[in-house]
Amino acid sequence: MGQRRMQGKSLRKRWKVESVQMGDSFTALDFRSACGQFATGVCVVTGMLDNKSPVGVTINSFSSVSLEPPLVLFCLDKNALSFDAFSIASRFAVNILAEDQQALSNNFARQSDDKFADIDYQVTEEGVPVLENCLTVMECRMYAVHDGGDHQIIVGEVSRIRKQREDARPLLYFRGGYNALASD
Ligand SMILES: Cc1cc2nc3c(=O)[nH]c(=O)nc-3n(C[C@H](O)[C@H](O)[C@H](O)COP(=O)(O)O)c2cc1C
Repeated sequence: MGQRRMQGKSLRKRWKVESVQMGDSFTALDFRSACGQFATGVCVVTGMLDNKSPVGVTINSFSSVSLEPPLVLFCLDKNALSFDAFSIASRFAVNILAEDQQALSNNFARQSDDKFADIDYQVTEEGVPVLENCLTVMECRMYAVHDGGDHQIIVGEVSRIRKQREDARPLLYFRGGYNALASD
């Protein structure tokens, strides 16, 4: 026991660990800050409501899931205005943003019904809006929807990959702000 305690002590000393306990002192902000230490890319997920109204939302909760079949996921806030649209969509697209698309990210991160007003996009044969000038766009068929607390975990099977600007640099999100890769 003595040794264990010593190991803990020496670790704390070396790395100046500040721990936050579960319970009273574990706030939502602590949790959000901890998650913000994980750097991600930024995507806009797009779909079509009632075959006529394009919907889109900025997300950084994208993850690849499976190679066979090719599955990806994102998590959508149950309070998002686009929540109902994505819950019933049979298809959607994941548009991975480039470094110079921060304004596009901000556009799709606000609650508005005219997000597509000044945006360059095409509608695929399957009726899904896809944004122009992204790094890559993955078109997906809805595969599964799982509950995830105040979010819903939406899993899609990738049916087509559109390589748009694979040599461009990605837009990054870290500690609650946009970031870019360091230059070479
Ligand atoms: C960089 C970034 C990442 C975001 N990631 C997510 C996410 O993964 N899931 C989510 O539900 N909202 C996320 N949001 C917030 C939504 O984009 C925002 O709530 C948006 O207004 C939702 O649009 P809607 O209400 O029209 O559906 C993110 C916002 C930003 C700026």
